[in-house]
Amino acid sequence: MKEINSENDHGTEKLRKTVLITGGAGGIGQELAKLFARDGYDLVLVDRVKEELKQVRDALQGIDLKMRILLLEQDLTETDAASKVHEFTCDHSLRIDVLVNCAGFGTYGFVNDIDEDRELDMLQLHVIALYRMTRLYLKEMVKRNDGRVINVSSMSAFQPNPYFATYGASKSFVLNFSRALNYELKEKGLNVRVLAVCPTAVRDTGFKAAAGMEHTKAFRSWMSVNAGVVAHDTYLALDCDRDIVIPGRGLGLLQRIACRLPVSWLMRISRSELRENSRFLSREMFICSPEKGADQ
Ligand SMILES: NC(=O)c1ccc[n+]([C@@H]2O[C@H](COP(=O)([O-])OP(=O)(O)OC[C@H]3O[C@@H](n4cnc5c(N)ncnc54)[C@H](OP(=O)(O)O)[C@@H]3O)[C@@H](O)[C@H]2O)c1
Repeated sequence: MKEINSENDHGTEKLRKTVLITGGAGGIGQELAKLFARDGYDLVLVDRVKEELKQVRDALQGIDLKMRILLLEQDLTETDAASKVHEFTCDHSLRIDVLVNCAGFGTYGFVNDIDEDRELDMLQLHVIALYRMTRLYLKEMVKRNDGRVINVSSMSAFQPNPYFATYGASKSFVLNFSRALNYELKEKGLNVRVLAVCPTAVRDTGFKAAAGMEHTKAFRSWMSVNAGVVAHDTYLALDCDRDIVIPGRGLGLLQRIACRLPVSWLMRISRSELRENSRFLSREMFICSPEKGADQ
């Protein structure tokens, strides 16, 4: 864990709220950071790559020169990652008003063909790190009876997903853990909430390339959304008494209808959406074919 310099002189201003965003240098995380920044929050951004974090900080600082932006370079697949992040915020005497567990990546393909260590890292990130981060910060939020947790899940959390099996299952954990937790908090009459975010395919982030899914139909489907929409709908949902948000116009309704279908149908639909689109594949192969020469 390396702290990257980053503090601006913040003076004595203490009324500002602070949001901590994991995956804060990524597509959805960065869009969320923009909205919190515009609303007067200070930011703690956690991600893996120092240079990317710095670029995001430089882009965001223009929104509000008084805003304090702390950056933490941390690989969240390390077993003690959550404690290190928590230590970092304690060392800076930060009160985290909103925690956003957004860092994530996908593994795509037949399970035997996917590198096992990569899948284990993904489970560590989506399940263990998210669980530990949630617990660490929820404790403080419950103590002061104030706070919000946003856990980024996925539409793939709602059914088994062939060729996206482990990813989908890990996001089911995120969804069900978050919803159950939110129920407990409400039943206890606390002013602390957990919101699960379930986006469909998001076109304009690093996710699809990292998962090797550039050619799948999902990212060209009418149901795909962009990161700005995910952030906007999530931000709006934060203050409504909801435990789940499905970003994108009409997609929540579609999900409510879809969940009435038999699981075998849902798996077939998911399989079809995640299929590689041969039309795009063959066109791109033609363009890149060495026999034909590039750009023909
Ligand atoms: N894009 C989609 O279609 C989609 C759909 C549904 C849900 N989601 C979820 O949305 C969340 C955000 O994804 P995105 O679409 O914004 O993709 P993204 O642009 O790739 O952002 C993800 C961020 O998480 C960071 N990250 C990955 N592994 C990490 C680790 N071990 N430690 C710390 N940070 C790590 C990435 O850093 P690096 O770039 O350095 O790896 C990246 O900055 C993820 O949880 C994803 O599962 C995405």
